[in-house]
Amino acid sequence: MEKIMVIGAGQMGSGIAQVCAEAGYQVTLNDLKPEFVERGLGVITKNLTRQVDKGRITAEQKAEVLARIASSTDLQDAGAVDLIIEAAVENMEVKTKIFAQLDEIAQPHTILASNTSSLPITEIAAATKRPEKVIGMHFMNPVPVMKLVEIIRGLATADEVYQTIEDITKKIGKVPVEVNDFPGFVANRILMPMINEAIYTLYEGVATKESIDEVMKLGMNHPMGPLTLADFIGLDTCLYIMETLYDGFGDPKYRPCPLLRKYVKAGWLGKKSGRGFYVYE
Ligand code: CAA
Ligand code: NAD
Repeated sequence: MEKIMVIGAGQMGSGIAQVCAEAGYQVTLNDLKPEFVERGLGVITKNLTRQVDKGRITAEQKAEVLARIASSTDLQDAGAVDLIIEAAVENMEVKTKIFAQLDEIAQPHTILASNTSSLPITEIAAATKRPEKVIGMHFMNPVPVMKLVEIIRGLATADEVYQTIEDITKKIGKVPVEVNDFPGFVANRILMPMINEAIYTLYEGVATKESIDEVMKLGMNHPMGPLTLADFIGLDTCLYIMETLYDGFGDPKYRPCPLLRKYVKAGWLGKKSGRGFYVYE
């Protein structure tokens, strides 16, 4: 495994491309438009420049990492890689369409991984003729900082594919944790209902957004309050995850808060769009 393609150059895809290139892999970063790839590369460059400024890497090392990342807007580039990590939007239709295309383009040995936050890996795998080579590789945001990768086996995922992904996860400096294919896996089954409850707490007027965040930061030692964290993750992603939990378990306890729906409809997607529960410069 030497060549990795990352599909989607957003918050997660750019971080995944960065850590893979830092570990020595040749990376192709793909998105729908050149300017989206450029934006992702801009974030990577900024992160590496900060590392240089802090004296952790040299300017030469920064240049070497950047030289290992190629830009792409053509899915056909998938034919030249050993592993594909998909980090496009959290939507089953989008993901199954991408996986069906990748299955046609990629070489037979190529592993198809998804960074989905919550969608069933088994269903994504069913869009391909190689379900044994499809797996979940769930990174946490911000990818360069967070150690965890949840690794999710689909119903048909082969043992050797699991082993390869576990090895790569360690090679890029992360800690793999194996979980089963259930809606939200472990991370978001526990995290997202807490965030949704924080939104209900705001919606019902129990406290201001600042107070809700302060309670969880100072009272529970969380690094960010839940509403700040929701903005950081992306409110569209939070809503998609709650809908996956709600549909997947059929249990009303997972119903997304109407205020979350309203914000997403308004285009208030959090930090990435400049406004969510808070306003960003
Ligand atoms: N990219 C790269 N590096 C970043 C970064 C980013 N976006 N944000 C912060 N950093 C780095 C900083 O450079 C700094 O590095 P050094 O210590 O090496 O100098 C370090 O992280 C700490 O940053 P700061 O001092 O600026 O800020 P902080 O101490 O408040 O930490 C944080 C920032 C790491 C984001 C912290 O607030 C935090 O851990 N927040 C919670 C994050 C979290 O819960 N993530 C999981 C989200 S859920 C998810 O990802 C799953 C899903 O499917 C939705
Ligand atoms: P984002 O909105 O920042 O980025 C998504 C990117 O995918 C965009 O640049 C978009 O143009 C691109 N894209 C959409 N359709 C595409 C296609 N068909 N081909 C190529 N690129 C396409 O979203 P994000 O926060 O990076 O999330 C990406 C994935 O990672 C989602 O599945 C999400 O659930 C998951 N995830 C998100 C977080 C988080 O905290 N935000 C954490 C873990 C996992």
